[in-house]
Amino acid sequence: MAGTVRFIALRHQLGSAPAPEDFALHTMPLTAPGEGEVLVRNLWLSVDPYMRLSMSTQAGLHAPVQPGQPLPGGAVGVVEKSNAPGLAAGSFVVTMVHGWRDAYVAPAATLQQVTAPDGNIQRFLGLYGLTGITAWGGIHGVLKPEADETIYINAAAGAVGSIAVQLARSLGARVIASAGSDAKGEWLTGTLGADAFINYRRENVGARLRELAPDGLAMAFDNVGGEQLEGIIEAMAPRGRIALCGAIALYEAENYRAGPANLFTIIERHVAMTGFNAGFYFGRAPEIIADFARLEAAGQLVVEETVVEGLEAMPKSFLDMLGGANTGKMLVRL
Ligand SMILES: NC(=O)c1ccc[n+]([C@@H]2O[C@H](COP(=O)([O-])OP(=O)(O)OC[C@H]3O[C@@H](n4cnc5c(N)ncnc54)[C@H](OP(=O)(O)O)[C@@H]3O)[C@@H](O)[C@H]2O)c1
Repeated sequence: MAGTVRFIALRHQLGSAPAPEDFALHTMPLTAPGEGEVLVRNLWLSVDPYMRLSMSTQAGLHAPVQPGQPLPGGAVGVVEKSNAPGLAAGSFVVTMVHGWRDAYVAPAATLQQVTAPDGNIQRFLGLYGLTGITAWGGIHGVLKPEADETIYINAAAGAVGSIAVQLARSLGARVIASAGSDAKGEWLTGTLGADAFINYRRENVGARLRELAPDGLAMAFDNVGGEQLEGIIEAMAPRGRIALCGAIALYEAENYRAGPANLFTIIERHVAMTGFNAGFYFGRAPEIIADFARLEAAGQLVVEETVVEGLEAMPKSFLDMLGGANTGKMLVRL
């Protein structure tokens, strides 16, 4: 590392059709860790939709990122030098901030030390981390499916969606899944056990939902928002429940916070629409990870990752993920 570290920054805040050329690779000095700090070398970088929000002028989970500044994001790394009691060199740690770079120095107290029982340390960015915990929170914390209830899950072949599909199936629910390609549809129905599939790129989601669930949906797990959410609302059964997880269809829009136009249907049908985020469930991570381990051991959980190599590949991987190139969790390995 020789005293410098490489990081990815924006050349300028993104417009509506972002390209890899909108990002640039830079270097900056890497100082020695001060009192209570550690130097961490990143091993895996997380590629997440929410990052798109802070790359334009809107505030997302993070404030808008200034061009030239290191982009924030999740990563798993190994402590290379420690100046902090209790966090030894060789420990694995998760950061939600110091992604998009080779290495960083940070206070040990701001990092989460992790050990992977199965050696799959990158899972702390997926199944055991943000996306798996989100899927678990939406299914077990919000929707609580019962056997034979029908649930619709969109972006179903992605990191959150693919776990949500399998959790709902493990509870005996009937799952209607959607994604953007027929190959993803084959995987969802053939491997993950979804009962029906909608290719949202060539089918009208609202119309297909009313065909596939003529008595209405008991539940929906919405990762997409926008027009899909409006279609979901029209397809809900009385007293149905919707978990609002994300709105990826709106992340390139001028206002990703815009709501659906048919909210009154929620009143008419006594539908419960609940937003949630992973932060409300992180405290239950040990219990959630144990639940995943039990399902995986029972052959009820397939964990898929799309892995791309090298820091330079991060911008393209990120844009590819937004375009649907990933199946399961998108990761960059350093
Ligand atoms: N609430 C929380 O705490 C929380 C935490 C993590 C993630 N999330 C949200 O959960 C959702 C999924 O996140 P993830 O990390 O699991 O990502 P992901 O599903 O692994 O990747 C994003 C996927 O979204 C699909 N997509 C992109 N644009 C779309 C559009 N216009 N309409 C429909 N589908 C589209 C693409 O698949 P296709 O091939 O199917 O198009 C793409 O693969 C996002 O909305 C994210 O913001 C929320």
